[in-house]
Amino acid sequence: MQNKKVDVPSGKDALRWGVSLLEPLGNDSQTAWLEANLLLGKAWNKSRIKLLTTLDDYLETASWESYKNYIMCRVAQEPLQYLIGEQIFMSLCFKVNPDVLIPRGETELLVNEALKLGLDIKQPKVLDLCTGSGAIAVSLAYYLPDSEVFAVDISAKALEIARINAQANGVDNKIEFFCGDMFLALETKQFDIITCNPPYISATEYVELPVDVKKEPRLALYGGKDGLQFYRILGAGARDFLTEQGILLMEIGYKQGEEVKRIMEENGFGNIQIIRDWNGHDRIVTCTA
Ligand SMILES: C[S@@+](CC[C@H](N)C(=O)[O-])C[C@H]1O[C@@H](n2cnc3c(N)ncnc32)[C@H](O)[C@@H]1O
Repeated sequence: MQNKKVDVPSGKDALRWGVSLLEPLGNDSQTAWLEANLLLGKAWNKSRIKLLTTLDDYLETASWESYKNYIMCRVAQEPLQYLIGEQIFMSLCFKVNPDVLIPRGETELLVNEALKLGLDIKQPKVLDLCTGSGAIAVSLAYYLPDSEVFAVDISAKALEIARINAQANGVDNKIEFFCGDMFLALETKQFDIITCNPPYISATEYVELPVDVKKEPRLALYGGKDGLQFYRILGAGARDFLTEQGILLMEIGYKQGEEVKRIMEENGFGNIQIIRDWNGHDRIVTCTA
């Protein structure tokens, strides 16, 4: 243990201070404690284990200042993942910043469905539209050993993060990235699997989003007035990019199942299925060319 310093707290006292500010935000004490731990570890540059075993030590001034700043950002409802700079998705670590949507647990369901199909295809060719942080594209490249993956996003800044994530997870040699507007970014090619988690929040829903969600890019959230704009683009374009047996998998908003099904039917897709998440909400639509 270090000697007490006058102007900086010990790790334990810093945690108590952080929890006292995070708890009143509506967090239960366990969540507040966990968040304070993660932010202190980040500010103090210590792994979780190292942090827990050195909590009686005193912080350096720079770490204390940095930790205070993180806590105040969190109080202002900056998402925790943007502050610590990462999110675990499909058991892989993804770098995130305010240029990309924070990958969600619901999207793992889409990846799992795509994996079930992809593992039965020899050298599957996969297209991930609206790739953002690359969560879906990188996971599929990682878990489908012989796959070739193409990933598209309109945001050059998001693609920078996606490239970093591909490299960090050792699959950069399996993914080609394209910057552009949905299918317009691509030469015509045939894919076995197309995945897409598009922006699907409607105008009225957008206004009511919680403050922390609104800190994520609007470009990643807003799906046009009724939230369905991207499903119309997918409906109109995806069949030209699918092999004969090819499958399109889309994440949807939980009230959009029937509408998205109708859009796909109108565009001639078959075998349309709506898959529910663990809350019983419609979450994924799959269909064949
Ligand atoms: C809901 S996020 C999905 C991110 C990531 N695939 C995931 O599941 O975590 C939607 C992404 O679509 C991208 N996007 C928005 N408009 C687009 C367009 N016209 N063409 C391609 N990508 C677009 C946004 O930049 C954002 O990264």
